[in-house]
Amino acid sequence: MKNSYSNIFTFNKKILSKTIKNLKNGGVAGLPTETVYGLGGNAYSKTSVEKIFKLKGRPKFNPLIVHYDNIKKATEDVIVNENLIKLYKKLCPGPITFVLKKKPNSKIVSIACAKLDTVAIRFPKHKVIKNLLKNIDFPLAMPSANISTNVSPTKATDVYDEFKRKLKLIIDGGECEIGIESTVIDLTSMPRILRPGFISKDYIKKILRKNVKISLNNKKVKSPGMMKKHYSPGIPVKINQKKHDGRSAFIYIGKKHENKKDYFSLSKNQNLNEAASNLYKIFRLIKKKGYKKIQISKIPNSGTGLAINDRLKRAANFK
Ligand code: TXA
Ligand code: MG
Repeated sequence: MKNSYSNIFTFNKKILSKTIKNLKNGGVAGLPTETVYGLGGNAYSKTSVEKIFKLKGRPKFNPLIVHYDNIKKATEDVIVNENLIKLYKKLCPGPITFVLKKKPNSKIVSIACAKLDTVAIRFPKHKVIKNLLKNIDFPLAMPSANISTNVSPTKATDVYDEFKRKLKLIIDGGECEIGIESTVIDLTSMPRILRPGFISKDYIKKILRKNVKISLNNKKVKSPGMMKKHYSPGIPVKINQKKHDGRSAFIYIGKKHENKKDYFSLSKNQNLNEAASNLYKIFRLIKKKGYKKIQISKIPNSGTGLAINDRLKRAANFK
């Protein structure tokens, strides 16, 4: 289907073939997932992976997530353990990423994993990416489709706004349902959450029937993407705000300030999942409207609120 962007395409058989051909030839593509849009490339191809790092301006020490269609394919590259199998059965495909030991004979190019001996793997659910993964014989290295330190894109035109025409192929899969990046959990030893997301620690605990740690501000940066300045809308963000300063865009939860100028609600019904899914959308909207600063009221730190506060703290590091 035609639209006003010559590099955004609606998914169909023809585009599927075109995308496969492009990926096989060492190309990259902007692809929808249920969490956020990704910038995907062949995880077994050095050319593809290098393109991803270059386009994003991503530091080489920050490893990529490798996406598979199913666990059987992943066993070629990682050492599977009991915790993975339990979580896979309950949660996959879905918005969770597992860090595992890499097999010595894995074909994943070492720069994709920042030369670590571990790999982060994910089984995405969105029907476009599922369909694509089913039809290729390699996994996709795929970070979020944004310039490094910016907020993740939740629709195809956001991906365009990030890379403009430098990215030749973006598949439009509609708005991302979850709207915030996957939960990242390290399963190489005692389960430990490295990045909170839609899938909560309590739910993981219930499935594994064991304690799950959460380590977000580790000195030894275990999840290098958890850098201090990240998820930045490009303008200063102030968190835990009580009073509007009269100029900034003010983000809050609820409907107390409904229809008031400069106020943006993440969720009228105070639903934290909805709030998470609206966060990046509202950041981008505010930026487009030309505001110079963002104030955000205190967000409850439970459930998905944990993931929201994690992203907000990092967004607030923009000076
Ligand atoms: O929802 C998502 O996870 C999206 C979609 C596109 O799948 N992807 C995404 O990728 O958010 P990215 O690159 O923006 O974030 C990947 C995170 C980073 O924090 C990175 O440091 C961490 O995963 N990571 C990747 N490999 C790792 C490893 N071997 N050990 C620890 N952390 C790792
Ligand atoms: Mg990212």
